[in-house]
Amino acid sequence: MGLALCSCAAFSGNALADASGDPKAVKNVNGQYYDKEGSPTFNIGNDGTVDYYTYSGYLRFNSMCIVCHGPDGSGSSYAPDLTKSLNTINYGEFLAIVAQGRRNISASTEFVMPSFGDNKNVVCYLDNIYTYLRGRSDGVVGRGRPEKHEPKPPAAAKAENECMGTS
Ligand code: HEC
Repeated sequence: MGLALCSCAAFSGNALADASGDPKAVKNVNGQYYDKEGSPTFNIGNDGTVDYYTYSGYLRFNSMCIVCHGPDGSGSSYAPDLTKSLNTINYGEFLAIVAQGRRNISASTEFVMPSFGDNKNVVCYLDNIYTYLRGRSDGVVGRGRPEKHEPKPPAAAKAENECMGTS
């Protein structure tokens, strides 16, 4: 399959608001796209087809995070709007927060983000979830289930089985 790396002009306008920098995909390794810093990123084809990891991240977000962070990552009365959070939280910080959890002790009501460091349903899909939320945050992945996505790369299935311990 050809590498249709999107050079959409619309991306550049949002790049400054992305804490991980320019989200433009410069590399594709087994279906996962990376930006020039080496952080996972999304890639959307001209016909709206999203990369597999964006799609997978959408599914994983909906099973593990939606209960607090709301549909499409847009936040709730309990937990922050992650589409805004990624304007200030970069990839490394994202990984640390999700692995360690977070507790807001200054608020009169205590808001707790659980630690997911031991949860394989999250740990094995962290890059997927990040890729999806980055696309949401940069305004290129819309609300709801992406209509079209690239097929699941064999490497993704292999990595998933190894991480989940099902291979
Ligand atoms: C039980 C509820 C709950 C679940 C489930 C949950 N979170 Fe959170 N999350 C929170 C709360 C509450 C905060 C804010 C904590 C604080 O005030 O410091 C938070 C904060 C965050 C932040 C930091 C946001 C910021 O702006 O500081 C990130 C990133 C995050 N969550 C990602 C995730 C991801 C990814 C998942 C799914 C794997 C997830 N969360 C699941 C409750 C939850």
